[in-house]
Amino acid sequence: MKVDRVYRYDVVILGAGLAGLRAATEIARKYGDRVKVGIVSKVQLMRAHSVCAEGGTAAVLRPEEGDSFTLHAWDTVKGSDFLADQDVVFRFVKMMPYEILLLDHWGIPWARREDGKINARPFGGHTFFRTVFAQDKTGFFEMQTLYDTLQRFSGYTRHDEVFATRIIMKDGKFAGLTAVDLVRGERVLFMGKVIIIATGGAGRLYGFTTYSHSVTGDGLAMALRAGIPLKDMEFIQFHPTGIVPSGILVTEGARGEGGYLRNNKGERFMERYAPSKMELAPRDIVSRAEMTEIEEGRGFKGPDGLDYVHLDLTHLGREKILERLPLIRELAIKFAGVDPIEEPIPVRPVAHYSMGGIHANIDGQVMWDGERKVENMFVAGEAACLSLHGANRLGSNSTAECLVWGRITGELAGRYATEKDFPFKEEDVLPEAEEEFRRIENLMNRKEGESPYRIRKELQRTMDLNVGVFRTRESLEKALQKIKELKERFKNVKVEDKSLVWNTDLVMTLETGFLLDLAEVVAMGALLREESRGGHFRRDFPKRDDEKWLKHTLAYRKENGELAFDYIPVNITYWKPVERKY
Ligand code: FUM
Repeated sequence: MKVDRVYRYDVVILGAGLAGLRAATEIARKYGDRVKVGIVSKVQLMRAHSVCAEGGTAAVLRPEEGDSFTLHAWDTVKGSDFLADQDVVFRFVKMMPYEILLLDHWGIPWARREDGKINARPFGGHTFFRTVFAQDKTGFFEMQTLYDTLQRFSGYTRHDEVFATRIIMKDGKFAGLTAVDLVRGERVLFMGKVIIIATGGAGRLYGFTTYSHSVTGDGLAMALRAGIPLKDMEFIQFHPTGIVPSGILVTEGARGEGGYLRNNKGERFMERYAPSKMELAPRDIVSRAEMTEIEEGRGFKGPDGLDYVHLDLTHLGREKILERLPLIRELAIKFAGVDPIEEPIPVRPVAHYSMGGIHANIDGQVMWDGERKVENMFVAGEAACLSLHGANRLGSNSTAECLVWGRITGELAGRYATEKDFPFKEEDVLPEAEEEFRRIENLMNRKEGESPYRIRKELQRTMDLNVGVFRTRESLEKALQKIKELKERFKNVKVEDKSLVWNTDLVMTLETGFLLDLAEVVAMGALLREESRGGHFRRDFPKRDDEKWLKHTLAYRKENGELAFDYIPVNITYWKPVERKY
């Protein structure tokens, strides 16, 4: 099946969320027009899921008031349940303040204190007020500021609404990216000297999730299929406050501003689970506490089994809610029918973040294993696993990660592009691209078959039920069996829409294939890890086991399509693991 168009860029950036845009701005300001960049995104630029980030971005801005890099690093490492690589954590905390000030120079409306300094709010697991914010729409303002800044440069081309389907590798290097241009209805091939993957996480593995429908782990699944390892995928973060029944996020900023969690007796139940941090304990701990309250009969009955607890903001007062949490108020009114000025919001743990991702080193350079680099491939943001968050991410460290590794990978990829030539010619890559479009054509030609929508729904249901906050061998085996069945059924799936223009039916089908591959990695990794650490809690192995499991998981796909697992050590440079208490 022929390729309609080939694009050549020095750097291909796949994904136009915070990490992708930060990488693009870094290349533009460092290398100007000398480096040509193609930004490929399956949605329109300002529709990337990053715009939904609410609460803020962590950075040490007030050393004179008691904060420090060491404290931010310690909070992150302890929050990670000691699975974070500590060299990565220190690099991160040291680079973050610059990013806050840079965005400030570029015009972001950070909240300010009375004295005019940039304001910050408390966030879960942080021992200092260091979450810088712009109301409760921080991601939106960060995206808008980066987009606005990018307009000053001319070395980039946007390819919005272009759905990537396969990463082509040759001789251990990135060779090309196939995609369907949904606007033109064309089969396209992107060639680059180097690629930065910034496609975000895989939140739509779950039905009850804070994620937009577009967050389907495409970059992760394409990397896996290309033989690249995914790291620590069993660690999924459940955020404690998803609005029931939609799953839309209520920012941790609501608890940062003083909100309480209450059970059906009106008790602030966090007193039993994290007496010193209360509602601002790390997310894994708060989510388990909520589920325990619900399971022990102290929750409220919700629709479709979505029992819940209350997030009570009523004592904060109208003025504070309108100033600091206007979006949360709007969401609660529209999606739960309650005005938080007067009534509590129904919430429960909700799938929110993948701590795992494409295996990368401290520079965001993609790795084949513990040592060998993919020299022309970088990854940034949630798609990456640099081992910054370990087994549990702290709130507001994610937008921060996107900024820091957007910058680092942008700079390194830009430099690579100025020093190296294209590694492959068009004719070297076309056969694989044509093979990929034949696969898609065969799928579209199928006349009979099952609906992919049903398969996706059943997958999400099984992940919600069996790979959630609490896991057991039995639940994970059940999930794996179901995933296997769904993968079999997916081989016979049918796409109704036969055109390539705006074919959301095709996109949805291919995304479901990606999700199925990733679900298997998550569930299998979780089954193998016989301990509890951070976001991964095994009821049958309720303790952390540093002797056996203080190590990162690498999942590969072998040539025969089967998964293989390997483990690499955690980089412990400063703090030895200790018991994690709050
Ligand atoms: O609660 C929130 O605003 C989410 C922030 C985060 O995931 O970092």
